[in-house]
Amino acid sequence: MTPPASAKERAIVLEMRGVRKSFGGTPVHDGVDFSVFEGEILTLVGGSGQGKTVLLKEIIGLMRPDEGEIRVLGREVTRMGEEELQDVRLNVSIVFQGSALFDSLCVGENVAYGLRERRRGLPESEVDRIVAEKLALVDLPGIEDQMPASLSGGMKKRVAIARALALEPRILLYDEPTTGLDPANVHRISALIVRMRDRVGVTSVVVTHDMPAAKAISDRLALLDRGRILCTGTWEEMDSSSHPRVRSFLEGELEA
Ligand SMILES: Nc1ncnc2c1ncn2[C@@H]1O[C@H](COP(=O)(O)OP(=O)(O)OP(=O)(O)O)[C@@H](O)[C@H]1O
Ligand SMILES: [Mg+2]
Repeated sequence: MTPPASAKERAIVLEMRGVRKSFGGTPVHDGVDFSVFEGEILTLVGGSGQGKTVLLKEIIGLMRPDEGEIRVLGREVTRMGEEELQDVRLNVSIVFQGSALFDSLCVGENVAYGLRERRRGLPESEVDRIVAEKLALVDLPGIEDQMPASLSGGMKKRVAIARALALEPRILLYDEPTTGLDPANVHRISALIVRMRDRVGVTSVVVTHDMPAAKAISDRLALLDRGRILCTGTWEEMDSSSHPRVRSFLEGELEA
């Protein structure tokens, strides 16, 4: 499958070429190739254990591939040192599956965390303004003083997204942003991902098992299967594929 014509003309902001990674001799990535275009929502799907979370971690240098190249905003990250990676992470934020909020910090401190770490010297009034703005963006205005323990799973997820947005990254990586949430929160988070694209042109890579959500938000999907990207394309393109592994994945039968 090929990207739609409009996507072809756009800049590539994220690219993997020939990425291989094994754990204890077992290959997880066996030649992963794919590109993400500026301003698109690319959904990465695939069976459990196929290496989707590892792939997101490789993009921001939390894990290193054994072989291959990963270009993020034009820079090769696989051999970067920690300092350079920190620089890349100013433009690329990740929302982890479990939200990963700091339980001992209130919501406002959680959202402000990256700002305080990475933009030292920013006046407190400006930190407060940005925190309030990001919480409003995720439909949780005014909850700065609440503690994470008092929030529902869906609210925690939205706070985690607000935290990821605080540094105004150009690329957002989401690991299972809607898994385990009730339909109202699934809808809210899906709408938020789309809004970030439409309002600020953020590029998103969304790992998900939630196929209705993937269908609703994706410009393109990529299917990771047996260590490789088996196909990329729009939902309609993927849905019309006759490849047996694509068909069995879509029918929910793909074994991990
Ligand atoms: N730090 C690690 N050490 C050893 N093996 C690992 C490590 N991290 C991941 N793996 C292995 O890599 C494989 C891919 O893991 P990963 O978490 O990326 O899968 P996934 O596609 O995200 O699955 P799920 O959909 O269940 O979240 C799994 O077999 C996992 O056990
Ligand atoms: Mg995972």
